[in-house]
Amino acid sequence: MQKIFTAEDYNSALDGYFKDLGAKKILLVCDAFAENLRPYGYFSDLGRLGIEVIRFSDFGPNPEYDSVVSGVKSFNENGCDAVAAIGGGSALDVAKCIKLFAKMDSGSNFLEQQAAFNNIPLFVVPTTAGTGSEATRFAVIYFNGAKQSVTHDSIIPQAVLLDAEVLKSLPEYQRKSTMLDALCHAAESFWSVNSTEESKAHSTKAIRLILDNMDGYLSNIPEANANMLLAANIAGKAINITQTTAGHAMCYKLTSLYGIAHGHAAALCVKELFPYMISNVDKCIDKRGRSYLEDTFADIALAFDCSSAQEAAARFGKLFKGLELPVPKADEKDFEILKKSVNPVRLKNNPIELDEDTIDMLYHKILD
Ligand SMILES: [Fe+2]
Repeated sequence: MQKIFTAEDYNSALDGYFKDLGAKKILLVCDAFAENLRPYGYFSDLGRLGIEVIRFSDFGPNPEYDSVVSGVKSFNENGCDAVAAIGGGSALDVAKCIKLFAKMDSGSNFLEQQAAFNNIPLFVVPTTAGTGSEATRFAVIYFNGAKQSVTHDSIIPQAVLLDAEVLKSLPEYQRKSTMLDALCHAAESFWSVNSTEESKAHSTKAIRLILDNMDGYLSNIPEANANMLLAANIAGKAINITQTTAGHAMCYKLTSLYGIAHGHAAALCVKELFPYMISNVDKCIDKRGRSYLEDTFADIALAFDCSSAQEAAARFGKLFKGLELPVPKADEKDFEILKKSVNPVRLKNNPIELDEDTIDMLYHKILD
């Protein structure tokens, strides 16, 4: 069970946690931006507990495998006994991989080895309310330019600090797009063919928290920021069970083609996917059947505080429009690239079958 620290004044609670852990040397994964945030101050001061902190910052926004390798080297050469991270998706991905790889054979490629559980404590502080990475067994890194998904239960952090103060200085575009990422996680997990009662309860809770706190969060109100961090964490717990679906499968190429943020791209896709799916339940591929899926859409409507799924999809569209985010302009050759880009494995989690023509049609609706 993951331990979550949320108290406004968390120093003494964290002191107790790190003392109990018995850690003597922590590898802290963070970039320069994290230095300005309150949790960094906490780690800088751990010397008073006799804990040494070794900082690791040798990684970029789409972290390379080689960065992780140098992190593993730093962890082992310094004799570290715990990993911590402060950051958005990238710092957390790097920390998760360092933890997983640290006990593996450094003489050969970690990605080709069988991963195993290890007891290295992993403590993370998310600095955006979006990815939910602090709650999942997934990490993404790049090897020779190709995206690699690392999945293992051992990389779910044991403890998380949700400090709403880190969101105070979050730039507006990141603020909007990370919130949309969390909302897409909650919605996609809800309709995923892998959904469970537990994952659906997480999705419902996350959707309600996001909708109830969106205005306050966009105005940088501390209490709403705290609730949005919690919502992203809960949505992360939902996708940890189900994984994401077509919205995420279709969004990855949009980020690289148009340079837009991940959550922005995911919401562009979900905005069109959502109404399409409701109108095409006859193409249901969820083994639990069409009426099960219709019931799920009715539950999603309730979570959105709407009387029908159509209304919920419209609410999603209106919410997106209200954020005034740009819609990229595409030309015909883009559509050729896009329709070939969708990961078929991820599409299998989607309850409605999407063939290549449908995906092409959806991309034409998504883009200008
Ligand atoms: Fe995402």
